[in-house]
Amino acid sequence: MGRILVAGGTVVTAAETMQADVLIDGEKIVALLASDGSAAGDVDTVIDANGKLVFPGSVDAHTHMEIPFGAATSKDTFETGTRAAAWGGTTTIIDFPIQMKGDSLLGSFEETMAKADGNAAIDYGLHQIVGDVNPQTMAELDLVFKEGVSSYKLFTAYPGVYYSTDGEISSVMQWAADNGSTILMHAENGSVIDLLREQAIAAGNTDPIFHALTRPAALEGEAAHRTIILAEQTGAPLYIVHISAKEVVAEISVARSMGQNVFGETCPQYLYLEQALLDQGFEGAKFVCSPPLRDPAEGHQAALWTGLATGDLQVVATDHCPFDYEGQKTLGRGDFTRIPNGLPVVEHRFPLLIHAALADGLLTLNRMVDVAATTPAKLFGIYPKKGTIAVGSDADLAVVDPAGRSVLSAATHHMNVDYSCFEGMELHGTIDVVLSRGSVVVADGKFHGDRRHGRYLRRGLNQLLR
Ligand code: URP
Ligand code: ZN
Ligand code: ZN
Repeated sequence: MGRILVAGGTVVTAAETMQADVLIDGEKIVALLASDGSAAGDVDTVIDANGKLVFPGSVDAHTHMEIPFGAATSKDTFETGTRAAAWGGTTTIIDFPIQMKGDSLLGSFEETMAKADGNAAIDYGLHQIVGDVNPQTMAELDLVFKEGVSSYKLFTAYPGVYYSTDGEISSVMQWAADNGSTILMHAENGSVIDLLREQAIAAGNTDPIFHALTRPAALEGEAAHRTIILAEQTGAPLYIVHISAKEVVAEISVARSMGQNVFGETCPQYLYLEQALLDQGFEGAKFVCSPPLRDPAEGHQAALWTGLATGDLQVVATDHCPFDYEGQKTLGRGDFTRIPNGLPVVEHRFPLLIHAALADGLLTLNRMVDVAATTPAKLFGIYPKKGTIAVGSDADLAVVDPAGRSVLSAATHHMNVDYSCFEGMELHGTIDVVLSRGSVVVADGKFHGDRRHGRYLRRGLNQLLR
């Protein structure tokens, strides 16, 4: 640690692009200096960023390390998942304790805190999944809130597992409206989807493609619409997670234009991958997640990119939830409803977004930083400690070579999973150096981090409320 100068690079934040040296003392950024190094004084280490882009370490606001899904548990632990995140320039994740039916809410929070403590290479916060709304849960919400959890995820999907009725959702929303917490929503119409799934299996339609065909975009749009109305009625801030459908972008756009505190997140898989990937016999299981990948011919991907560029959508997170193909996804051979839902993405979100800006021009570099780092930090109450490069911010940085090229592959990735859903994709830009709170975590193609380095982030309220 000590004093580090990141010298000669182009600093890119959500607001500006500038030639500047970044001076770090201990865990913090202490100055942004003219690029000639003259004002830096004594430094212990110089990181040469000539010709490189210097980004804030990015914030992945939606990950699932070691969560149960049906008969499987997601493969990355906090240790392996945060290490993989760091390789990809992500220096903060927000993960989820899971309250299942019959569980204590507080108990699930404490269990996840214990799992993560001493097992994270980068800093982490927690949203709370509320899977059983009952009087005890309502009492325990206040206790979890006091631990720095300012966002709560509810589901209109997965009946019998995480699903809540509209009344249950409304009661948690009323509580959130009172204290300013943000409600995260998995918006799909779970009971209609269950009907379609039963009918598909009864008709012998058991292949992975039927996972997508039984979760139509209209049922994602319907659930988004309904929960936006519930949020409007109760006054709770609402953040719709892992949006895959153009219908949801339209719903959010309308609500925001009316002044409602509604925000939207999408993920690289919905931006880059497509429904046809599920239609390759059982191999399609590698691409099973919920909501499902969509058909680009229907305009979903285009609407998501446009939404990010115009501000109708605010965040790109991963919903990282990795399951091995062999032994985990294969649990659903002969019955797609048994395939554990989720994809491995945490390592590649930021590189894919950098590529989108550098190679495809789909976002400006500044807007890319905004959706990958700055806005998630603001929405989840950790800005400007996280999500930007400024005096006083944590020294979380990613130094990127825009001329570099990388090829995504299971053979080289660091996620603890046996396949890549982006196999063979060539990206513009390589992440050369990553710092977390002033410690070099990745450099020279090696991991220098430590699983005891990451700290729990007690988060404040949403900083973007109107
Ligand atoms: O397929 C998904 N999304 N798996 C993770 C659980 C969730 O719904 O976020
Ligand atoms: Zn979800
Ligand atoms: Zn999720």
